[in-house]
Amino acid sequence: MYAFALGSMISIFFLTDHDEIKRKIATYCIFFAGLTVFQLVVNIVQHYNLAYMGEYLTKRVKERMLAKILSFEVAWFDQDENSTGVVCSRLSTEANIVRSLVGDRMSLLLQTTSAVVIACTVSLIIAWRFAIVLIIVQPISIASFYTRIVILKGMSKKAIKAQDESSKIAVEAISNLRTITSFSSQDRVIKMLQKAQEGPSHESIRQSWFAGIGLGCARSLTTFSRALEYWYGGNLVYHGHITSKALFETNLIMANTGRMIADASSLTSDLAKGANAIGLVFTILDRNTKIEADEMSAYKPQKLIGHIELQNVYFAYPSRPNVMIFQDFSIKIDAGKSTALVGGSGSGKSTIMGLIERFYDPLKGIVTMDGRDIKSYNLKSLRNYIALVSQEPTLFNGTIRENIAYGAFDKTNEVEIIEAAKIANAHDFIASMKDGYDTWCGDRGVQLSGGQKQRIAIARAVLKNPKVLLLDEATSALDSQSENVVQDALEKVMVGRTSVVVAHRLSTIRNCNRIVVLDKGRVVEEGTHSSLLAKGPSGNYYSLVSLQRNATTTTSATDIEY
Ligand SMILES: Nc1ncnc2c1ncn2[C@@H]1O[C@H](COP(=O)(O)OP(=O)(O)O)[C@@H](O)[C@H]1O
Ligand SMILES: [Mg+2]
Repeated sequence: MYAFALGSMISIFFLTDHDEIKRKIATYCIFFAGLTVFQLVVNIVQHYNLAYMGEYLTKRVKERMLAKILSFEVAWFDQDENSTGVVCSRLSTEANIVRSLVGDRMSLLLQTTSAVVIACTVSLIIAWRFAIVLIIVQPISIASFYTRIVILKGMSKKAIKAQDESSKIAVEAISNLRTITSFSSQDRVIKMLQKAQEGPSHESIRQSWFAGIGLGCARSLTTFSRALEYWYGGNLVYHGHITSKALFETNLIMANTGRMIADASSLTSDLAKGANAIGLVFTILDRNTKIEADEMSAYKPQKLIGHIELQNVYFAYPSRPNVMIFQDFSIKIDAGKSTALVGGSGSGKSTIMGLIERFYDPLKGIVTMDGRDIKSYNLKSLRNYIALVSQEPTLFNGTIRENIAYGAFDKTNEVEIIEAAKIANAHDFIASMKDGYDTWCGDRGVQLSGGQKQRIAIARAVLKNPKVLLLDEATSALDSQSENVVQDALEKVMVGRTSVVVAHRLSTIRNCNRIVVLDKGRVVEEGTHSSLLAKGPSGNYYSLVSLQRNATTTTSATDIEY
């Protein structure tokens, strides 16, 4: 419409009557003013709707994807293509791509198509002969517009990529500042940055040659087609087939349309990328978890005693199916007692924990809880009775209170939270903080020491009041002083529960009711601390103990007698 009006307006200048020129110009001015308002309104409405639709879509896609991903069994996350980084970037970028594809791109395509239809019809009505020629010439100018856009886009993309590379180095450098400073390797980082920018800059110089030639050709082609059009149009006017007014109108309409088509078609590469993203989104949405955590028909225990058995278990991690971790492995864990798992790293201690939590299913054999295959339990309610405290305690963004109450959503009673914190030896240090239980922890929060985090994690486990307590090297990351405090806390918590304890320090282990020594996925010894020591120097446990004893007597005075 704009092009049409512009074309008609130009023709005014060819009129001879001054009054008429004045009158017509006034009319067109009003017309353009009206058009401005109209455009404004249409744009606002359109963008509001699109933005709303897009936001809604992104939200839905993100929510559904996250819900799906969280339902997946742990083995899924072990696969390389589903590493934390990849999954996170999928969640943040792909939902956005889907939005832009469905929202922005679709509407653009729709707009363009309708504009093209209208433009062609109008031009054909105004001056059919000229319009036909223009339509035939169109592809040339579309093609050249298209090349221009694609070339320019490609150039900026390359530049961005080069930026990415160098900014990655910079980010890495800044986040590892301490390491860099302690190694005095600032110069090396700068050199790396220079090098990273060198390659792309050569490349971009080469690229700009191509781009220049491409752009030049495209430009001149457009100009050439202009010349052709005007020559033919001029001829038509000369012979009186069309008026000069019609000439300008048709010409401007078609030029505008060509640009729109080129714009829209340059987005086809985005469309391809978008389709790819949609594909990935749907592979996640369509995938069903291999271990359903909330099977409605499955057995929901009202009460758990906590007797655990692994019976003739064969197991290999799905991501490494050739490496058998367990072959015909059996172990009994008595209810209400503490069992320590001892063994070198890689002997399968954490894997046992994973099997009890049913993060993984054994290939053969069964894991039973109170004599019942854990596959027949409703996992969600089974896991309600189990608490896992691992080496690296995770605190979420939130207050200490929220972090403690995390596992037990139905009892967020202040008294119970404080009680749990007291059992975990955490109350004193929490109470001494400025904000107490409202202290914010996590990324943006206070810096807590490893021992403090661990005690908060233990308080979380205590509040859950689990029947089965799995402690996987819960004290290993701590210095001996906080280890003692945490150890003390754990011993209080372990009373009356089935506990499975993995620890390196023998001070933690020796008080357990039973000790199981593992080696390469097999049980090599079991018994109590004293019965295992009684085996003499040939026993595995005995040699582990003497190793520890030597280490501790030489390194620290806080040694504990065995
Ligand atoms: N997620 C995993 N995917 C593949 N292999 C694993 C995974 N976790 C552990 N393993 C392997 O299983 C073996 C036993 O590991 P683990 O049970 O963690 O030992 P421990 O806790 O006794 O140190 C090791 O050889 C380890 O490499
Ligand atoms: Mg381990």
